[in-house]
Amino acid sequence: MKVIAFNGSPRKGGNTHIAIETVFEELNKKNIETEEVYLHDYEIKSCTACYTCLKTKDCKCILDDDFNPLLHRLLEHDGLILASPVYAWNATGQMRCFLERYGFVTMYSPCNMKRKVGAALTVYTRAGGLPTWYNLIGLLLGFGMVVPGSTYATMAQGASPGAILECEWGLDSFRELGQNMAWLLEKLQ
Ligand SMILES: Cc1cc2nc3c(=O)[nH]c(=O)nc-3n(C[C@H](O)[C@H](O)[C@H](O)COP(=O)(O)O)c2cc1C
Repeated sequence: MKVIAFNGSPRKGGNTHIAIETVFEELNKKNIETEEVYLHDYEIKSCTACYTCLKTKDCKCILDDDFNPLLHRLLEHDGLILASPVYAWNATGQMRCFLERYGFVTMYSPCNMKRKVGAALTVYTRAGGLPTWYNLIGLLLGFGMVVPGSTYATMAQGASPGAILECEWGLDSFRELGQNMAWLLEKLQ
């Protein structure tokens, strides 16, 4: 089984990366393969509201950028983790661009992540961690994915890179998410 994590941070090796690695450690213990993708390494434009994908239902966006290859890479996986730092009380723009287009392109097309496992986590400094997490969890449910929980919410507090290593409750929530995600993946297999 394979899980892919989309990291919405432009900062390589930062707090979001540490959070993802903490979840991955638990998944790897159960022999689940893991892969992290930095969305900032790709050109992903925001949706232009052309509505073509809703008519063609052919698993493609007509915009010419990196979205389609990334979507098809995602579809090869059994699980998805949406992981983002909080920017202006929300997920980062790059993450939101991907989600806008994923939602429409997959809405009526046969290729989608329905009934696969979806998880979300956020890192933040002062405010917006919880609404951002709710937003990502809501989207995963709206995409028809099966979402494992953990105690409280899956998020951690920290500002500079590495700061979340001091946030024990946050790291615990990531470990628990990894354990619950592995459990759910096995049940659904
Ligand atoms: C442009 C920008 C906007 C931010 N907005 C918020 C915010 O609204 N609330 C918050 O708590 N932290 C905010 N932060 C702080 C980041 O969420 C925080 O530093 C996080 O740990 C960064 O994760 P990373 O190391 O993975 O990039 C913002 C940071 C930047 C650069």
